[in-house]
Amino acid sequence: MLKEIIEKVELFFEEGKKEIEGIKDSELLEKWRIKFLGRKSYLNQIFSKISSLTKEEKVICGKKLNEIKQNLIELYERAKFQIEKKEIKYNLFLPGVKVKTGNLHPITKIIDEIVQIFYRMGFAIAEGPEIETDYYNFTALNTPEEHPARDIWDTFYIEKEKNILLRTHTSPVQIRIMEKYTPPLKIIAPGKCFRRDAFDTSHSPMFHQIEGLMVDKDIKFTHLKGVLSYFIYEFFKKEVKIVFAPSYFPFTEPSAEVSISCVICEEKGCSTCGNTGFLEILGCGMVHPNVFKNVGYDPKIYTGFAFGMGVERLAMLKYQIDDIRYFYYNDLRFLEQF
Ligand code: PHE
Repeated sequence: MLKEIIEKVELFFEEGKKEIEGIKDSELLEKWRIKFLGRKSYLNQIFSKISSLTKEEKVICGKKLNEIKQNLIELYERAKFQIEKKEIKYNLFLPGVKVKTGNLHPITKIIDEIVQIFYRMGFAIAEGPEIETDYYNFTALNTPEEHPARDIWDTFYIEKEKNILLRTHTSPVQIRIMEKYTPPLKIIAPGKCFRRDAFDTSHSPMFHQIEGLMVDKDIKFTHLKGVLSYFIYEFFKKEVKIVFAPSYFPFTEPSAEVSISCVICEEKGCSTCGNTGFLEILGCGMVHPNVFKNVGYDPKIYTGFAFGMGVERLAMLKYQIDDIRYFYYNDLRFLEQF
């Protein structure tokens, strides 16, 4: 009985092997699968006949049947692979393979967006080096050595003796532009800045700023207010309250800090605005006469305003992101959302 069963399944296997050789399309292959591997196949019928064998015979027979089944599955898979390969080649109706493209980093996108708004108001785009000298980062900006305000802009020095450092703000671009051009001028300067800050939810030792500068005869604080108010409205695309509060920067006089009504809680008070209902978004002011003197402009003829804003902070408010570190983790699940 055992010998007979084994002989029969071996013959069955040989038959399957021979039949599959000529098969060239998936329809016939499916018929083959039903015949040789389907629920009602000869093989499965034999499985159910095993019960009449002795215990030892059952073991041997079961093993043999499984082996044959495995071999048939292998034949099937191999033929399937070959047929599909061919059919895919000629099937013009299959959808195309989508090419995975990258996208711009959210910070790059926000910078573009901000720069575009100012560009529409007639500002030209300027750039300056990330590695700066002490002169451009501080001294020319009316912050001489030993000035206490240098403390808030502590940074990384590349060569202390030669006074080469990583810029702490984009304000040195103001100096570089004014040294090169005469008024009237209107520029916007985006770029990276560096400070000796710990990496936490709201700080990063590297971040981005956008600097603005406008110089001409008769530029007044109202021009600054108008330009910034328009920018804020265009950027957040909703009515927000804007507050100019007195502040201090060595390179502007008077100086102001601009806050807006919290875009998250709408002044009700939340963790983002520290329950104050308002968020500080930038520093600004009228260019200090000493700064003009340092670049050879006559402060009796020219006046101007300047401002500097943190890009990450604006992006976090716009997209309601509560941790600055997401921008630098390089996690595609985050980056692909923009
Ligand atoms: N540079 C200042 C800062 O980084 C911001 C600022 C720019 C303030 C221009 C006034 C004018 O904090």
